[in-house]
Amino acid sequence: MNRTLLGGLSAPAFLRRHWQKTPLLVRNALPGFAGVLDLDDMIRLAGRDDCESRLVMRNGRSWTVEHGPFPSSRLRRLPLRNWTLLVQGVDLFLPQARELLSQFRFIPYSRLDDLMVSYAPDGGGVGPHFDSYDVFLLQGPGRRRWQVSRQRDLTLREDSPLKILERFRPQGEAVLEPGDMLYLPPHFAHDGTAVGDCYTYSIGFRAPSHRELACEFLMFLEERLRLPGRYADPELLPQEHPAEIGTAMIRKIGKALRGIRWSGRDTVDFLGSYLTEPKQQVRFAPPSPALASAAFVRAARRSGVHLSAGSQMLYSGTRLFINGETADAAPAALRQLADDRRLAGRRFPRDGATAELLYQWYRAGYISINA
Ligand code: SIN
Ligand code: CO
Repeated sequence: MNRTLLGGLSAPAFLRRHWQKTPLLVRNALPGFAGVLDLDDMIRLAGRDDCESRLVMRNGRSWTVEHGPFPSSRLRRLPLRNWTLLVQGVDLFLPQARELLSQFRFIPYSRLDDLMVSYAPDGGGVGPHFDSYDVFLLQGPGRRRWQVSRQRDLTLREDSPLKILERFRPQGEAVLEPGDMLYLPPHFAHDGTAVGDCYTYSIGFRAPSHRELACEFLMFLEERLRLPGRYADPELLPQEHPAEIGTAMIRKIGKALRGIRWSGRDTVDFLGSYLTEPKQQVRFAPPSPALASAAFVRAARRSGVHLSAGSQMLYSGTRLFINGETADAAPAALRQLADDRRLAGRRFPRDGATAELLYQWYRAGYISINA
């Protein structure tokens, strides 16, 4: 890892002292950082229907939000001040954005969400708010004044279409210059205002709520559920009130439901498929024309392969997951592909079964041959 990224802190020291606990301001985290896209690129992305974008406008102390896609004519006719264009999932579109995320690989991919980029002319911002996730706010070209607060009062304004704090009491302030970075743990109140034209890169991490995990897990479990038997009541007695649900029935059903069981392996398989499930807007582009299997293996041995921008790949023990699918073997080469998102030609697997699996992923557009 680049030693400047965390202001001289090692990754373990950062995780121990700051992660999920307290903010960290790093001057010159990425010296000379010039960004990976400009306003034209952002306008292009914001015009796509497979890219999530928002336009936030400020009028005094009130904010409005519109959701993309936006025709470029709309974005080129905005006022001189007080608006922000935010583009989510930039890593899905630009390899350089993916490269930027790789600086943060000291945090597991299972926690990584995406790279969001905002552009704002002077005075633009999304208002005082808090996020439920950890975020690194990396300053691109331009400057932004960040005000932050440890306040416990996180009441939101009811009249706002945006999450805006009812009472924001800043306790600290810093103007970030290009390459500076501010780490904020979840629920830390903050407000960033552009000082002149300003790009901010948000490297965001996901932390699903227990409720969301449970709902997803129950859906996953439904398909695997083995609960033999059927309700039976050979000892049934006449009931005085036929509409009443009898206590014997409640007891029996309760017992049957308590028979729902799952193993550690179910938890792993659930997590692997849940965490690698492609984002809603991701579309894979299968190669056209596709190489035949033998030609693919020859080309991959020569040049290596890499994961497509939208691909998510994780593993645990011998279980391997890619884009919501599960494979039953995780040989070293595939684990390396998951960790590095690329595999050199000389590391391309020799065994036929793994090569065939990679060929299937190539046909699905999950991986490509290195240029
Ligand atoms: C921004 O880039 O303007 C907003 C980032 C944030 O406050 O989370
Ligand atoms: Co925020």
